[in-house]
Amino acid sequence: MNEPTLQGHLITLVPTTIDDRRTIYEWLAHSDVTRSMMGMPLFPDSPVPTWEEFCEDHMPHFFDGSAPLLGRSFMIVAGEDAAGQIYYNEIKERRGAKRVEIDMWMRAEKYCGRGYGGDALATLCDYLRDRLGVNEVMMQPSARNPRAIQAYGKIGFIRLPGTLEENGAEWGQNDYDDSVYMVKSLKNFP
Ligand SMILES: CC(C)(COP(=O)(O)OP(=O)(O)OC[C@H]1O[C@@H](n2cnc3c(N)ncnc32)[C@H](O)[C@@H]1OP(=O)(O)O)[C@@H](O)C(=O)NCCC(=O)NCCS
Repeated sequence: MNEPTLQGHLITLVPTTIDDRRTIYEWLAHSDVTRSMMGMPLFPDSPVPTWEEFCEDHMPHFFDGSAPLLGRSFMIVAGEDAAGQIYYNEIKERRGAKRVEIDMWMRAEKYCGRGYGGDALATLCDYLRDRLGVNEVMMQPSARNPRAIQAYGKIGFIRLPGTLEENGAEWGQNDYDDSVYMVKSLKNFP
């Protein structure tokens, strides 16, 4: 499949390949950003996954483009460097609107706070709207992750007011005991 590279202002999003899966896992589970999103001591409710658990949640189609409506991962490339990864999950339809959840992490602290995350997110949202007709996008950082909340808020994600139960029923299972459901409308409702 001929998949596009997506150009942002600061970064480029390059479709990942299955060879990237282990690297992306290591960034998630065994890097200096791990502690700011999972595992002890701050996130006992979100344990660090094993490689096998990660593979169960991140099937080959995330990395080979074989099922674009079921999810796709992109490398966040800044200059010459792979700076992190971002992916969207399965696109689901609810009350006539197409919705999807996004998750992302940079590879290391030294790549955080440079605007790459916000730019990657905005770039992927444009792609989801223009190429896949997505209407609404959701992310769910923990309330213990103020940097993520700030980064997503900056590009137009708005915190939902409901309870965890209400937001979970509407948008899907919470990842954290204090998930903050944040939604961006892509303003292309029919
Ligand atoms: C969350 C993440 C993807 C955001 O990407 P990023 O490139 O760091 O984000 P940006 O540089 O675009 O924006 C970060 C913002 O957070 C702010 N920030 C940094 N530390 C902060 C803190 N402790 N509290 C509040 N805001 C903070 C920065 O000042 C910046 O906001 P500003 O531009 O308004 O000043 C990235 O930091 C990351 O990978 N973190 C570790 C893993 C993670 O938390 N993943 C998300 C799981 S939901």
